[in-house]
Amino acid sequence: MDVSFVEHLKKQWMAMIDALEDPLVLIDQHYNIRRQNMAYFNRAVNPNQLGLTEFKGKKCYEEFAGRNSPCPDCNMKNSTRENLPKTWTSSSLFASKDLEIHVFPNVDVDDDDALAVVHYRDISQQKALQESLARADKLAALGKLAGGVAHEINSPLAGIMAFAQMALREMSPDDPHLEDMKEIEAAAQKCKVIVEGLLGFARQDSPESTELYNLVESIKSTLRLARVMVIKERIELHTSLPATPIYVEGSKGRIAQVLLNLITNAIYAMRDGGGELEITVETLGELVEMTVRDTGTGIPKEHLKRIFDPFFTTKPVGEGTGLGLAISYSIITQHRGKISVESSPGVGTTFKIHLPLAQLQPPGGKA
Ligand SMILES: Nc1ncnc2c1ncn2[C@@H]1O[C@H](COP(=O)(O)OP(=O)(O)O)[C@@H](O)[C@H]1O
Ligand SMILES: [Mg+2]
Repeated sequence: MDVSFVEHLKKQWMAMIDALEDPLVLIDQHYNIRRQNMAYFNRAVNPNQLGLTEFKGKKCYEEFAGRNSPCPDCNMKNSTRENLPKTWTSSSLFASKDLEIHVFPNVDVDDDDALAVVHYRDISQQKALQESLARADKLAALGKLAGGVAHEINSPLAGIMAFAQMALREMSPDDPHLEDMKEIEAAAQKCKVIVEGLLGFARQDSPESTELYNLVESIKSTLRLARVMVIKERIELHTSLPATPIYVEGSKGRIAQVLLNLITNAIYAMRDGGGELEITVETLGELVEMTVRDTGTGIPKEHLKRIFDPFFTTKPVGEGTGLGLAISYSIITQHRGKISVESSPGVGTTFKIHLPLAQLQPPGGKA
């Protein structure tokens, strides 16, 4: 065969493999890199610092995982021994990425060592989608259940409250049962708050009155409420709101409720020693982004996945119902928006909300 033709073929194959977005590498049984594609090279640990153009003879765990021994979960050797492809996942190889790793053993190359191809696929987005689908399912089911229970409890509860209040009015101030009756009324009042929370959560799929309104104005009135709480807890409040109106469509009251939930949580997280609360609003293309950032306790990693679950709370009985974020999540989803969180324990927490801008901006009100 013509040499230049072979060169051409080689170039063609390399170009094809380099065009793949997924990292791909050929390694031997001693983890030496024999060949890699461009994506592998680009994702490797500090390729520029090493000043390398090739990894030939380098170890994959050094260059790709930044380790000085093979990755503990590596299946390459098993795969070669059993002569079977293997797949596993790793979330530690790249920060905040979930990778699916495939190894194909004993690729047929004239070589004295058995070679394996390793293929890395980023499944972070797929995983996030699966989780959000599972959550939506769980929330819908729980919403139905919670709504049913709340309705059932609502009328007997109203009875307890009404009769307790009536009895209280008729009791003389020195009645020995007066304090007990007050307890009954207060306890029923507490139940009412919980039942209302449950109903709010269950209402997730019945669209409430929607209107076209200026989000900035509505946030300003919510902030007036928040200011009172902030002063009490000695918290510094910083806000950054746009000067021009931002029009969105939906339920003004429910979006305000979400913001208030986030602010209440933030203030609670800073209840010892104060801190800073920052609220920002800005437009990003077709979206409006609201952030609520605090310098409070932060949320441990193992809680992050659960904070939007109904009834998940770390607060003592009587102080939290664990419904705030579950309700907020359902309200934002219902408004075709997204809510997300980032947190570092000991540093603070940021909640971010994205809502679509209204399709039709009212006359004279350009956002
Ligand atoms: N800003 C925050 N800082 C720290 N932890 C938070 C914050 N917001 C929420 N959390 C955590 O999420 C949990 C659930 O919040 P939420 O659904 O509002 O219920 P509740 O406030 O009744 O506990 C809280 O108990 C707390 O552990
Ligand atoms: Mg709360």
